[in-house]
Amino acid sequence: MCGIFAVVKQANDKNADAANVVLEGLKRLEYRGYDSWGIAIKNGDKIVIEKHVGKIGQAKTNLPQAHIALGHTRWATHGGVTSKNAHPHLDCTQTLALVHNGIVENYQELKESLDKNHTFHSETDTEVALHLLEEKMRRLKSVPAIRQTFRQLIGMNAIIALSAKGDELIAAKNGSPLTVGLGNNANYIASDVWALMDHTNKVIFLEDGQLAHLTADIVTIYDIKTGKRLSPKTTTLDWQTEQSQLGKFHHYMEKEIHDQPKVLANISQFDTGSLDPLTKVITKARKTYLIGCGSAYFASLFGEYLLKSHNRDSEAVIGSESGKIARLLNKQSLNLMLSQSGETIDIIEAIDRAKLKGAPIAALTNVLGSTLYRKADHKILLQAGQEVAVASTKAFIAKLAVLIKIAYALNNRLSQGTLLISQSAKEVRSLLEGKSRHQIKSLATKLKDHDHMFVVGRGLAYPIAQETALKIKEVSYIHAEAYAGGELKHGTIALIEKGTPCIVTSLDKTTWSDDISAANEMKARGGVIIGIACQNHPVFDHYLAVPDLQEASAIPATTIVQLLAYDLSVARGLNPDKPRNLAKSVTVK
Ligand code: F6R
Repeated sequence: MCGIFAVVKQANDKNADAANVVLEGLKRLEYRGYDSWGIAIKNGDKIVIEKHVGKIGQAKTNLPQAHIALGHTRWATHGGVTSKNAHPHLDCTQTLALVHNGIVENYQELKESLDKNHTFHSETDTEVALHLLEEKMRRLKSVPAIRQTFRQLIGMNAIIALSAKGDELIAAKNGSPLTVGLGNNANYIASDVWALMDHTNKVIFLEDGQLAHLTADIVTIYDIKTGKRLSPKTTTLDWQTEQSQLGKFHHYMEKEIHDQPKVLANISQFDTGSLDPLTKVITKARKTYLIGCGSAYFASLFGEYLLKSHNRDSEAVIGSESGKIARLLNKQSLNLMLSQSGETIDIIEAIDRAKLKGAPIAALTNVLGSTLYRKADHKILLQAGQEVAVASTKAFIAKLAVLIKIAYALNNRLSQGTLLISQSAKEVRSLLEGKSRHQIKSLATKLKDHDHMFVVGRGLAYPIAQETALKIKEVSYIHAEAYAGGELKHGTIALIEKGTPCIVTSLDKTTWSDDISAANEMKARGGVIIGIACQNHPVFDHYLAVPDLQEASAIPATTIVQLLAYDLSVARGLNPDKPRNLAKSVTVK
């Protein structure tokens, strides 16, 4: 989704090269997904902009030296992918630039209320907000002008303005994330905390309804409604830049899969201190709803099976469908939100809905200070490090590992859960380094030209089958569909013909004979059977061995299918890090 990065340095800084700082900041945001980008700088008493359709990649900027710059990567919502629609937008006086994340729901009404002499250059809702601000700036100073403008916007939005009249940036937000970075003789603002990594580890996470005024020396935060000055909390982040670097790998997806042994070893060390608050609220709750989107939903489904098998009432819910449980929520219904980014709009909406009912909110997220992290009453940070590849890998594995530890902790068997996770860390390492790696690559070469695949699994293997199909679809563009092991014969088996690849995921002795029956049924229709299982069987045409680690077998099984999806993508000549049409952080509906 859209990304924002801006910097303000000292006006007398002769070396200030704000346009390049912003360009590099935008490159850090590339992973979020976008289709055009642009930068505005203050140049004397005017603003100069540069905008492009397509990827930043190795782009350089031709903008002159400047001490203030404001940049944006756009993922089109209102208006097509054109350089005119790319942000920043410029007002009629060429002295005011605006970037925007979110959707101004009432932009039509606002447009009609504007003076009739504005010239519009784009089809965006953003430009309406800009001209509204332009009108307010005629009679007000920048802070009250932005305040008043922002209060008229309906929807979940974040805006940042750069005015050539001052040495300042002004931002306001409601819903869309913004983080201020506090530097030396410079201050920054970005839609994504990771983008600040090269400049500072001291940040202020802006809350909804707050406005930030940044100069090179001072950051002032205001309440948008009352206009009062606030005393924001500064957070010092503990991160290592190398966590986000590609190193010896070809793609981030490959690198992030290889990060998994470390991530798992770290989670194996999570002790009762870090897990207790969550296990206590699960114990207290009458029911736990696990809510997530995409891969995070499949992790939620894994959690549902797991908690049920550890005698806790639970239900996985797709974030965008969580309205269906709204009426059932009360103080005894725990809403456990799973989200790598902690910014997914459907999750944030689900939180607000649950809070209205007084339901407690818990979070499993990977981003400290994310909206989910800040809104949750109880939280566990996955500590998987930044995920740059669009497809989630290590954060998914981290969620499985934390859920397993929680399930064991609920029954006072945390040490056994810990052992399973530390064993899975070792098994994943040997998978990545051993002969399985070669087997997976050669399997991908055999499968790469197929248009369709099916994946089945029962019990805990079912969510893993779902995740398998999603990973294959998103990075290789092969149509893959997952079914519960017993479901295929109720209709979809009609699609299986000679040579159709059918992945059978079998991770549990109790489902083994049924898994093999499903494999035989598919084979009888011509399916080529790929067994990803804890034991081999003659029905399998190809076999990838999964170590038997009870519930934690799901972890190495997932690593196998992530590698398979990655290899399929590479074998088909695609870039697995940036699948078409997808965005890393889905902050609009
Ligand atoms: C799939 C994938 C997505 C995300 C989903 C939720 O590989 O990455 O399906 O899992 O968009 O994102 P988060 O976890 O950030 O809420």
